[in-house]
Amino acid sequence: MNINTVVTAPYADQCPGTSGLRKKTQTFITQANYLENYIQSCLCVVDVDKHQPIIIGGDGRYYNDIAIQQTIRIALGNGFTDIRVCQRGLLSTPACSHLIRHCQATLGFVFSASHNPGGENGDVGIKLNVANGGPAPVSLTDEIYAYSQQISHYVIADTADIDLMDCQYYRFGEARVAVIDGVGDYVKLMQSLFDFALIRDYLTSNRLQFDAMHAITGPYAKAIFVDCLGVDANDILNATPLPDFAGQHPDPSPTTAKTLYNTAMSPDCPFSLLAASDGDGDRNMIVGHKLFVNPSDSLAVIAANHTAIKQFQSLPFVGVARSLPTSRAVDVVANALGIDCYETPTGWKFFGNLLDANRINLCGEESFGTSGHHIREKDGIWAVLCWLSILATQKQSVSAVMQSHWARFGRHYYARYDFEGLSVQAGEQILADLTQKDTKSLQFNQQDCTELGHFSYTDPTNQSHISHQGYQVKFGESARFVVRLSGTGTVGATLRLYLEVFDSDFMQQPDVVVAPLAQHALAFIDLARYHHTTQPTAIVC
Ligand code: G6P
Ligand code: ZN
Repeated sequence: MNINTVVTAPYADQCPGTSGLRKKTQTFITQANYLENYIQSCLCVVDVDKHQPIIIGGDGRYYNDIAIQQTIRIALGNGFTDIRVCQRGLLSTPACSHLIRHCQATLGFVFSASHNPGGENGDVGIKLNVANGGPAPVSLTDEIYAYSQQISHYVIADTADIDLMDCQYYRFGEARVAVIDGVGDYVKLMQSLFDFALIRDYLTSNRLQFDAMHAITGPYAKAIFVDCLGVDANDILNATPLPDFAGQHPDPSPTTAKTLYNTAMSPDCPFSLLAASDGDGDRNMIVGHKLFVNPSDSLAVIAANHTAIKQFQSLPFVGVARSLPTSRAVDVVANALGIDCYETPTGWKFFGNLLDANRINLCGEESFGTSGHHIREKDGIWAVLCWLSILATQKQSVSAVMQSHWARFGRHYYARYDFEGLSVQAGEQILADLTQKDTKSLQFNQQDCTELGHFSYTDPTNQSHISHQGYQVKFGESARFVVRLSGTGTVGATLRLYLEVFDSDFMQQPDVVVAPLAQHALAFIDLARYHHTTQPTAIVC
């Protein structure tokens, strides 16, 4: 095996965002060494035993094949001797997290821009996970970025493409590249975490519809829902991963999973539960007949019903965590259960240390992410299995489960307004200027503002500190809004406004309840000063 050293030069924009490095596909295609620089930077900085396994896979999107083959060559070039690549290159983010832990790998690459569109005009991304199975922490991504800014060469093996169709080994001197099954171990994990007999029985008289959105969860959904749990294969929509996700947006939301959502809202919907997952399989959307379950509520319901889920039956249920903009519905449940509740910045990487320290069993985010201590990523299919376990145990519909939850705990009405297409400069200015606002007479529904400011977080496990993670304005327990910039986009800036209003009357319309708070927040931000419109481009409600 010949190893070549290739001279290269830095790209200024290789700073990873909320979840890895994410750019337009064309950025990778048209800029020589763009991928190679970043992979080399990762491998130089990680400081791991090169004889331990590393895992490589992706969500099947356009350019994954090139990224995977080049990464194998660069890993070989850098002296890694146990490289495990998933069959056909297909690996979901949660399955990668599990494989890393299961094989005691030191790191894993998932080539995915998550829920962002794919194809030649879409996005490509590189997610790096570390030995605990979770996303690389900020300290590491900072180092990777710093390395990428002074890179002068990368090292690459001169080897042919590996055939990824069948599981087999390839030897290159003392190194081995193994093509492995990316699905089987994850299926076994799910079988160990849930009572499949209970769910199977429930599904004999109740139907699940699942939308894999032409993305990674198709093979996992077929293996779990169809083969293990007896779901009709026709009830798994868009189950074949396609490089361009059929031109769709692989984002499980009411607007993008439209067919499934419309089925759920139709008067004669035949399904008891409808669900979808995103490009790389870590997000989930839960819908019942005529009821969209917002992700913050879903987290709270799973916490409140954790005893219905086998995974949570054997260990003490000690704590939960949510990101700052996720509603406080789960806090109320934690309070009732007498367990800890942590508030972290946005981004799954902040949950890892809490899980590693056994401080929490369950965590989630408003951005359609939920997971437990079984891995260190959010997990779309797992969340669906949690809901199936709850429905099978309670023997109630999704809306009955929600109504009894709200009757007991009250309801946190919630919405997220997205303002896309801002300039990066305008976005940053809005956040910077918030500090200077006049806050003396800030009130909502006769309740004074009780707390406001930029959110900072000190990780209780290692005291690492991070500031400016979103601006929060609180009106006691009754209302709150949060403003932050998205960290996952690839063009300009997206401002997100998160709105939360608590009311014990739970039969109101969420959009109507949050509208006055939205007006209040927009006036406070003074968006019109920075942006041509105050109309959100999207509302998630
Ligand atoms: C990714 C991360 C999530 C995070 C989300 C926020 O999906 O994995 O942990 O909540 O990004 O996205 P945003 O666009 O709001 O930064
Ligand atoms: Zn994702």
